[in-house]
Amino acid sequence: MTANLQGTLNLTGSQPDRHIYQMDKEKHEIALSTKELQVAYGNNVALQNADLSFERFKITSLIGASGSGKSTFLRSLNRMNDDVATVGGQIMYRGLDINSHDIDVYEMRKHIGMVFQRPNPFAKSISDNITFALKQHGMHDKKKLAEIVETSLKQAALWDEVKDDLKKSALSLSGGQQQRLVIARAIAMKPDILLLDEPASALDPISSSKIEDTLMELKKHYTIIIVTHNMQQASRISDYTAFFHAGEVIEYDLTRKIFTRPKVQLTIDYVNGNFG
Ligand SMILES: Nc1ncnc2c1ncn2[C@@H]1O[C@H](COP(=O)(O)OP(=O)(O)O)[C@@H](O)[C@H]1O
Ligand SMILES: [Mg+2]
Repeated sequence: MTANLQGTLNLTGSQPDRHIYQMDKEKHEIALSTKELQVAYGNNVALQNADLSFERFKITSLIGASGSGKSTFLRSLNRMNDDVATVGGQIMYRGLDINSHDIDVYEMRKHIGMVFQRPNPFAKSISDNITFALKQHGMHDKKKLAEIVETSLKQAALWDEVKDDLKKSALSLSGGQQQRLVIARAIAMKPDILLLDEPASALDPISSSKIEDTLMELKKHYTIIIVTHNMQQASRISDYTAFFHAGEVIEYDLTRKIFTRPKVQLTIDYVNGNFG
């Protein structure tokens, strides 16, 4: 399913239609990259010099101790920090700097979706959770909406559990089911990139493992960037891992290298459980 990669991208008021996405046939295609990303909350610089490139259709984990800047980094990628922080540097997506002032943030978030730590379904039915934003964007074809509900729930591995009662309130689902519903809601928008901030940390081990399985399936269609403080989880599911410490990216490499042969002493200490 690569329909979301086709066509033109128009995220800005000032540069319409000039940025036609070219599907890169190279193996290491970059979906998103940051250049000298810096985030300050008032005088507190919470992130600096963050240069990371994220490979398409891979899972990248962001690990590091609490307060190291993982969420700050992730939230900046879809402009969630605009109101609370000063965000400098570039975030390149399909040839556009989506950190620039003339980006249509609302439009951009259709391409770069976000899932938070605590499941946050709307107090609506299961199907309405998924169709809500689509209707807001002007889609009213009932058959098409029903199709998207089904495919999104299937991709989020929730369909079998809810298909007989799609009108049931989302709030009646378990925490793990709610989180998969929120993932389904995000992918219904057909984003390119899915950002997840500790999506399984509030869940029991079985629900958490279902989320992991779901993400492994989803990477066939989406580029996934996930914050986790669970190193086992990072090593199980991710292709690449970036280690954050005190607001900087200390080391970024293939996950197996980070966990078996890290190069930097801070990373060695962290993955060996010496701090954090
Ligand atoms: N909304 C905010 N306002 C002020 N400071 C914040 C805010 N969010 C995070 N910070 C600060 O930024 C630093 C990094 O936090 P965060 O990105 O949440 O770390 P992590 O996700 O790695 O635990 C911390 O010092 C934290 O206190
Ligand atoms: Mg965090």
